[in-house]
Amino acid sequence: MTDISIAVVPVAGIGTRLLPATKSQPKEMLPVGRKPVVQYVVDELTRVGLQRLLFITGPSKTSIENHFDIDAELIQVLRESGKEDLLAELSFERAPIQYFYTRQRQLLGLGHAVSCARPFVGDQPFVVALGDSIIGLNAQSDVVRRMSRCFVETGADAVIAVEEVPHAEIRHYGVAMPKTTGDIFELADVIEKPTLEDAPSNLAIAARYVFSPTIFDALEQIQPGSGGELQLTDAIRLLIQNGGKVYGLRLHNHERRYDIGTFDSYFRAFVEFALADEKHGATLRTYLEELLRKAA
Ligand code: UTP
Repeated sequence: MTDISIAVVPVAGIGTRLLPATKSQPKEMLPVGRKPVVQYVVDELTRVGLQRLLFITGPSKTSIENHFDIDAELIQVLRESGKEDLLAELSFERAPIQYFYTRQRQLLGLGHAVSCARPFVGDQPFVVALGDSIIGLNAQSDVVRRMSRCFVETGADAVIAVEEVPHAEIRHYGVAMPKTTGDIFELADVIEKPTLEDAPSNLAIAARYVFSPTIFDALEQIQPGSGGELQLTDAIRLLIQNGGKVYGLRLHNHERRYDIGTFDSYFRAFVEFALADEKHGATLRTYLEELLRKAA
């Protein structure tokens, strides 16, 4: 259990890099193996004891709300047609978590999306979990619990998850400049989408954050940055410049971040999760091996 009870899950982005798949459905609802991306995110947050979840959403995202509702009609249909065994697939509808939704009315970037949570969060610490990123195969990760512990023990203003990425990919991420060493370290700076020459390390921010409400003041002060958007990374940078304590916490080796933002990463994630499927993984493996042998 954590002392922090609120998680904010931004899902308002329009996912242009995944068009046409995302034309009329949210990228956060794309299936990876058996479940939509955002269900893995909610599973992860529920498992570490978060109790209230605020989605920052948008007009084309109502299927996310529908997905987490209790669907009495579907339950009845399954019962009446003798498919009661399938009810287990809907057990997530009863997760011990309360859902809230607010719309980001202008798509001004991730920093702006997080600032939309201010009236809900008030003066409490909170988690931010990006709705398009799964941490660990089948979301087997307690990184948010470890981050929350670090946040409480150090009295930090922010704790961010980081993972090592290949140098060629650094320019796609927010990148950390560590001040100290170790699996948990203090940060001297963070830079959004640096060039390879400007990158202070190969530690990329990995879609999970714990913040004190001081982040909201920082978000109000920043100007549009990379891509003309209000960048969350720039607000974290300002926190540090204003003397705030910000820590980085490395993901464990088994906790890779699956960023469902491009087709390359989406395809890889899907194949990896499908191969790990208890029922169909083994036959898929045989099929793929055969396919690759024929193509060689
Ligand atoms: P991305 O940075 O991948 O942005 O979002 P995007 O706009 O969805 O994707 P592209 O670049 O057009 O392909 C990371 C997470 O932040 C949310 C997204 O929904 C995603 O879960 N987000 C992003 C918002 O909620 N609001 C925004 O303005 C931007």
